[in-house]
Amino acid sequence: MTQNTDSNTRKVHIKTYGCQMNVYDSERMLETLRPLGFEMTAEAEGADLVILNTCHIREKASDKVYSELGRLREAQGRKSEAGGRMMLAVAGCVAQAEGEEILIRAPQVDMVFGPQTYHRLPELIARADRESGARQVETDFPVEDKFDHLPEERQTAGVTAFLTVQEGCDKFCTFCVVPYTRGSEQSRPVAAILREAEGLVAQGVREVTLLGQNVNAYHGIGPDGREWSLGRLARALAELPGLDRIRYTTSHPRDMDDELIAAHGDLPALMPFLHLPVQSGSDRILAAMNRKHTADEFRRIVDRLRAARPDLALSSDFIVGFPGETDAEFAETLRLVTDIGFASSFSFKYSPRPGTPASSMADAVPESVKSDRLAALNQLLEAQQEAFNHGCVGRRLPVLIEKPGRNPGQLVGRSPYLQPVHIDGTADLIGRVVDCDIDSLRSYSLFGRIAALTPEERACA
Ligand code: 5AD
Ligand code: SF4
Repeated sequence: MTQNTDSNTRKVHIKTYGCQMNVYDSERMLETLRPLGFEMTAEAEGADLVILNTCHIREKASDKVYSELGRLREAQGRKSEAGGRMMLAVAGCVAQAEGEEILIRAPQVDMVFGPQTYHRLPELIARADRESGARQVETDFPVEDKFDHLPEERQTAGVTAFLTVQEGCDKFCTFCVVPYTRGSEQSRPVAAILREAEGLVAQGVREVTLLGQNVNAYHGIGPDGREWSLGRLARALAELPGLDRIRYTTSHPRDMDDELIAAHGDLPALMPFLHLPVQSGSDRILAAMNRKHTADEFRRIVDRLRAARPDLALSSDFIVGFPGETDAEFAETLRLVTDIGFASSFSFKYSPRPGTPASSMADAVPESVKSDRLAALNQLLEAQQEAFNHGCVGRRLPVLIEKPGRNPGQLVGRSPYLQPVHIDGTADLIGRVVDCDIDSLRSYSLFGRIAALTPEERACA
């Protein structure tokens, strides 16, 4: 039996690729490893275990994994600091999608496990310890719920945290691998989420970002035995004392239901910044993508959200060069962007993913056309982002102070719109939401001053 003492502390290095869900999963992996005596190390060099928590969403994302495995080969040839061999694991969505294939392409890999099986890590490690040289693949979607097998206690540092409430996706957009790598939609029960949120708040967390591949399709069982929507869950979380801010990502326009839109109007804690991917402004392309809504339906959803919460800002995801996309259809995307006005966005060239319906569609768009469209779209989105950021100068914004700044006496926090905000102030303000007058903008950061504290705040400070 391994004791958690200094003499047999082992070092694990986890490298995370891709979305926030992977960031959350990496934290939880570390928590399952701690009882085995593992501690996190910032460098792969000298570690006893290196885990690559991978992303498969676009081709570039998965290519990175194989080049990193190549680089690690050399470090693996040397002994770990503890004198043993470095174990190498591939986790996450590439592991799920490629399974055994990874062991063939990368002979130095010891373990491959998917996003639904990392609660079995201790078992995999124990087996690897016992039967050194036995290589293992765990990519079945298990019948048990991994959340029931993860340590209850989360160990976080900092004032913001991710909290997974939903996983998987049943939407099957034709370009996307997620329904295959993360499986079908599963929502965690309300009580488990509230418990996790309470635990985070007790550790000083003031903002949680609720995560799910399709987070607003959330339909977990509530304490009343009924299915709760995300809007209802947000209402319950907003009542937790000490939890100042709630965010959620990533949403699908189809699941923006009345209850969630109303929650945006009613809950000051629900931040007025929403990531709502639209992908395209062309109805024909949206249908070919199987997005199940039109461009005008998206416009109407945004109108309703803005009516509920007038200071709401939006960000989105776009794909250019989906198979068969014409110049005129791309122009419709530009028109949608112009109509809506986004505070920030992510845009991607369409990348065919093996096994997805779009990957076998005719009329692939040439790479050079994709590049031109991406540049045109980015130019428009960047201009909108800059305009939005400029519009914040002169405003008074609530800022959640997160950490000390670069120089003594400086602090950094985040606006409701996730912009970094730099102010002068003392460390006791960390973890508090402070009204700040924004004076200037430098690249993507805002600079401001603490507005006069209310008498109540002064009493606390
Ligand atoms: N090609 C390009 N972009 C993609 N995305 C998902 N799959 C693909 C693909 N095959 C983008 C979508 C999604 C974001 C997370 O990644 O815009 O919203
Ligand atoms: Fe992928 Fe579409 Fe599901 Fe989002 S909604 S995860 S893009 S299939």
